[in-house]
Amino acid sequence: VFEQLRAAMPELTVLTDPTSMAGFTSDWTGHWSSSPLAVVQPTTTEQVGEILQWASAHAIHVITQGGNTGLVGGSVGGSSPHIILSTKNLRSYAAIDHQRRTLTASAGFTLGEIQEMARSEQFDYPVDIAARDSATIGGTVATNAGGIRVIAHGMTSAHVVGLEVVLSDGTIIDAVDKLPKDNTGPDWLRLFIGSEGTLGVITAVSVQLSEQRNPLWTALIPVTSIDQAIEMGLSLAPAVLAAEIISTASANEVATVAQLTPLGTDTRWWLLLEADCDFESAMERIEFPEETILAQQPSDVERLWTYRERHTEMISRHNNVVKLDVSVPLSQLNSFIFEVSKLVPKYAPTADCLYAFGHVLDGNIHISVRDVTDEKGLTEAVLNLVVECDGAISAEHGIGRMKTQYWAEHQSASQLTVWRGIRKSLDRAGVMNPEVLA
Ligand code: FAD
Ligand code: MLT
Ligand code: ZN
Repeated sequence: VFEQLRAAMPELTVLTDPTSMAGFTSDWTGHWSSSPLAVVQPTTTEQVGEILQWASAHAIHVITQGGNTGLVGGSVGGSSPHIILSTKNLRSYAAIDHQRRTLTASAGFTLGEIQEMARSEQFDYPVDIAARDSATIGGTVATNAGGIRVIAHGMTSAHVVGLEVVLSDGTIIDAVDKLPKDNTGPDWLRLFIGSEGTLGVITAVSVQLSEQRNPLWTALIPVTSIDQAIEMGLSLAPAVLAAEIISTASANEVATVAQLTPLGTDTRWWLLLEADCDFESAMERIEFPEETILAQQPSDVERLWTYRERHTEMISRHNNVVKLDVSVPLSQLNSFIFEVSKLVPKYAPTADCLYAFGHVLDGNIHISVRDVTDEKGLTEAVLNLVVECDGAISAEHGIGRMKTQYWAEHQSASQLTVWRGIRKSLDRAGVMNPEVLA
């Protein structure tokens, strides 16, 4: 069945042996894996179009994959016959328009490369996640990635100003170079933001760049509760560039892994706060505890961030981990985490800690529990608590394979009808990541 594909595009890389496919067939967490018929690595938009037409004609599912850093199982396939379409080699174009202050790039550039391009021209692309050096710019649009700068700059969706997308019938939607003001009809292009590979392959992106806002200080502050952390962060609000909560227990497990000095254990939480106001004016609004660790030199700042950014890697070393990215109203965050902690003994009797960390002023907490004996039970129990708090069952990672069933059960019939209608009209063959957001 690949002969026709190879005949049409002899230059296309088509990997079929398990060894060369190995790096693509498990997701970052190792929790999800699949056996694709092939991994294809197009280098041009036109090749993507031909691959999708071929897959549609053969009813072969297409799992689009960027950096494969997604955390909800959306970047690998299921049991149906499928290929993985890797966008990593879509790197033919990247340029900054200084007049419009936008950056246009092929989908396969990493987020880190995009950030670097912006900085090299005295701009900033202010979406930042710890997976910056692997996650692709196309993948961050497909998942509407959030990260550590959302509090100051918003989600990826706040920065997208143009897209080039290929549909499963081969149609190329070339809207990557839109005018700053183009009000000719509904902005339906935004449907592809957060579409998780279910509507089409994003092959190029245009993003709005920002002025550089560099932190004047970074502090790790011991706090007695989430509410105290929220109060501190909100008191500096316009100047806050990052506000990340980490539990002392998980921070000190990172300290062991990363050979850092353990944090004091007098409080249960630490707030990593970064701002572009001077520290003196911050001290007028926040009473910094004596144990506060203040950093202004880049190496010290990097060390403080390590306590936070190495959480994901540290937790992934454990077994039977359930990882849930959720958000709840700020007023509910404290009690929500307390309710979740009461679930741990039931679903993970041998585990002795709840890993809870995240972007606290976004109400976005990352819940992880290790040595879970009933993954489905814990996932449902936590997501039920989120729904009870009027929260969101995904704050920034998307739905993927992990949450599709729960998501579908909690959509109204009319919401599902509209979504499935949109999906059917854009992917008539029904081959685009069919088991995600189904
Ligand atoms: P992949 O993982 O390859 O794919 C993710 C989803 O997008 C899949 O459904 C896939 O089908 C689809 N997709 C990918 N590329 C395309 C495309 N070009 N066109 C259409 N669909 C596509 N996420 C956050 O939001 N905030 C964080 O702070 C954050 N921190 C992280 C830290 C670590 C250490 C890790 C490992 C991950 C983190 N993530 C975070 C999750 C992940 O990095 C993001 O979801 C990222 O946007 C995924 O990009 P990717 O290129 O790796 O996509
Ligand atoms: C983070 O904020 O570190 C990421 O969203 C990854 C995670 O949740 O582990
Ligand atoms: Zn996050």
